[in-house]
Amino acid sequence: MLPKNWAKALLLVMLLPLAARADEGMWLPLFVKRLNHADMQKKGLKLTAEEIYDINNASLKDAIVQLGGFCTGEFVSGQGLMLTNHHCGYDALQSHSTPQNNILQNGFFAANPAEEKSNPGLFVDILVRMEDVTARVLEGVTPQAPEQERMTTIRKRQQEMAEAAKENGQYVAYVRDMFGGNEYYLFVYQRFGDVRLVGAPPEAVGKFGGDTDNWMWPRHTGDFSMFRVYASKDNKPTAGYSASNVPYHPKKHLPVSLQGVNEGDFAMVFGFPGRTQRFLPAAGLQLTLDQSNPARIKLRDTRLKIWKEDSDADPTVRLKYASKYASIANYWKYFIGQNEGMKRLKTVDQKKAEEASLAQWIAADPARTPVYGDALPAITQAYTGIREYNLSSQYVNEAAFGTEIIATASRLMPLYTMLKAPQVEKTALDKAIADLKEPLADFYKDYNLSTDKKVFTALMQLYAQDVPKEQLPDVFQTVQKQYGGSMAKYADYVYANSFVGSEAKMNAFLANPTLAKLEADPAFKTYLSVYNNYTQTILPKMQAYQSSLTRANRLYVAALRAKNTQKVYSPDANSTLRLSYGTVRPYQGRDAVSFDYKTTAQGIVEKEDPTNPEFVVPTKELQLIKAKDFGRYAGKDGQLPVAFITDNDITGGNSGSPVINGRGELIGVAFDGNWEAMTGDLAYDPELKRCINVDIRYVLWCIEKLGGAKHIVDEMTVVNNGPNPGVGPQAQVNGLPLPAGEVKKIKVKRKKKDTADASASVN
Ligand code: ARG
Repeated sequence: MLPKNWAKALLLVMLLPLAARADEGMWLPLFVKRLNHADMQKKGLKLTAEEIYDINNASLKDAIVQLGGFCTGEFVSGQGLMLTNHHCGYDALQSHSTPQNNILQNGFFAANPAEEKSNPGLFVDILVRMEDVTARVLEGVTPQAPEQERMTTIRKRQQEMAEAAKENGQYVAYVRDMFGGNEYYLFVYQRFGDVRLVGAPPEAVGKFGGDTDNWMWPRHTGDFSMFRVYASKDNKPTAGYSASNVPYHPKKHLPVSLQGVNEGDFAMVFGFPGRTQRFLPAAGLQLTLDQSNPARIKLRDTRLKIWKEDSDADPTVRLKYASKYASIANYWKYFIGQNEGMKRLKTVDQKKAEEASLAQWIAADPARTPVYGDALPAITQAYTGIREYNLSSQYVNEAAFGTEIIATASRLMPLYTMLKAPQVEKTALDKAIADLKEPLADFYKDYNLSTDKKVFTALMQLYAQDVPKEQLPDVFQTVQKQYGGSMAKYADYVYANSFVGSEAKMNAFLANPTLAKLEADPAFKTYLSVYNNYTQTILPKMQAYQSSLTRANRLYVAALRAKNTQKVYSPDANSTLRLSYGTVRPYQGRDAVSFDYKTTAQGIVEKEDPTNPEFVVPTKELQLIKAKDFGRYAGKDGQLPVAFITDNDITGGNSGSPVINGRGELIGVAFDGNWEAMTGDLAYDPELKRCINVDIRYVLWCIEKLGGAKHIVDEMTVVNNGPNPGVGPQAQVNGLPLPAGEVKKIKVKRKKKDTADASASVN
């Protein structure tokens, strides 16, 4: 029987193929033209594919940088002015802060170039080109080749290709694998080592909401900071700061739009997402859920509590530990959210169902079994083995290396190897020592020995207690036999006698390093015991499983793609340049709870709490908000916009990425994800996953009105080119944004759908 509203049903069916949904995907810019451009145009993009990515002419990609390997930034002026997140510039801000001149707390904007602050070690990478080199990397590599042999061949080719692409040190280059080793890509960058801090709002703005609001929407954080990239007089990269350097002239910088955002507006995010594991099998998810994450959460919880106690007791310690605290706390909360989400969304069950259907597909054709038949059973087997040793490896990272004294002792490893060799090469030794100078100075500046000793006692105690006895390093026997099992007593011994905890003693050692001194140092001995245990006992066991897992994963991903040929997969994030696109879009967080797509300064006033350091609002900001002194940055509602959300697919590493409208103008800066979609790195849920962005108008307001640095705004290309292109809110039917031309029809249809018989008609 035809459903009553069959015409309506037909219309919907006809529209569906056109209605490319806001979907998963961190796309390689190289393939935008072929894979995404048509779909992007339907959502509101007005640019050509070449205006987005072109290796011969200036394109959007030339305005995007990878900052320090961990964040993204974008050029907003022809003078190398770069915008990123506050939390990306946090470490730089902290390192230039003292209790007397606390720019982290007070904010800071350079009044002129002389006031910009240089940051040794910080660099930006700008992509020159990327290239699919799969055929060259895999040439002659047969599926039958033993995994070890395959890896050796591939690694060698990767290195050779990268080496050639560097053109005698002119570029930074590497080859990365995608889709679990089924594809390979070459990336070539220019690296600029002179990156100076230009400004940031006060921490109370840049980190407003603190850890409480972190990973959450609705948000009221002005999470931005500014830097300037410097180059030689002929616009070439330099390895570090030079007084003779001048501002870099990027091939492209982003115009900044005052238009603001509306629901349904097109939005794309260009940046360097760090890591996703969307192809992680159910057994891997299960291991994360019940073993890795609980261990990480417990160990970080312990460390953070100690750091917080000491920070609360002493402002000097607070300043020293602010940046370390923020970064450990960020992923501590992430792991908690990820586990909560996995349970609520039944992520493991979903993956199991997907694998069951894949197994059926493989079994359905005898030709598939010899190719893929092995994959799923091998995965299960490998994870069973890995599970036995996984805790050891988590505790090495989060417990042993969670203590600063062990992590710092590990830096002496290259020296140790040289001193142990039959002949010590003087020049190599001198170089190894010289290489330690900068990181060590950086470390001691922010080190508090008594705090670290408490951390050591607590974390090493948990290590001894939680890891299977037979897997523990020898050092724990020493604690047992010589210190009566008291970790506190052992810590007394280590911290009183090691030179690693003291800058002066470390320098004395480095002035005249001997093997005997190093081998006798209690911190180094502790480190060595952990290291030897890990590399000689744990790792070899894990590696055997790991290598069969690598092979199985590769086959598993290949099988998935062969099965679902209608689906265009994007590769997992791996810190390479990607583009994601979607629209400005609200969401329903859970039953009966829906979230608007934007926030305003009204919310800052509502959240303000002078008794809670996370929610203090600077007096000047409160006054400006009260006076409604928003200037040209007010929204149509007369409010000051602060943040908005889009359904762009992003992850850590995208922090600081530009949110760009359909005309290629900057409308916001991405800075976070939302709590309801914390499983996003493992499995993407289009209904829940949102990208949280600071509205560019709030950024400009903070610089000009709050920071009194109008000259920085004036350096940008501020434009007001009429409403943003996009499909509009009416076009969202069941969460599917539709092409602009269809909006009218759908409007009518939607009204009908609201009537009682609507669902019956589609069934
Ligand atoms: N969750 C954000 C990210 O990983 C970092 C936010 C920083 N803010 C904070 N309160 N810790 O990109």
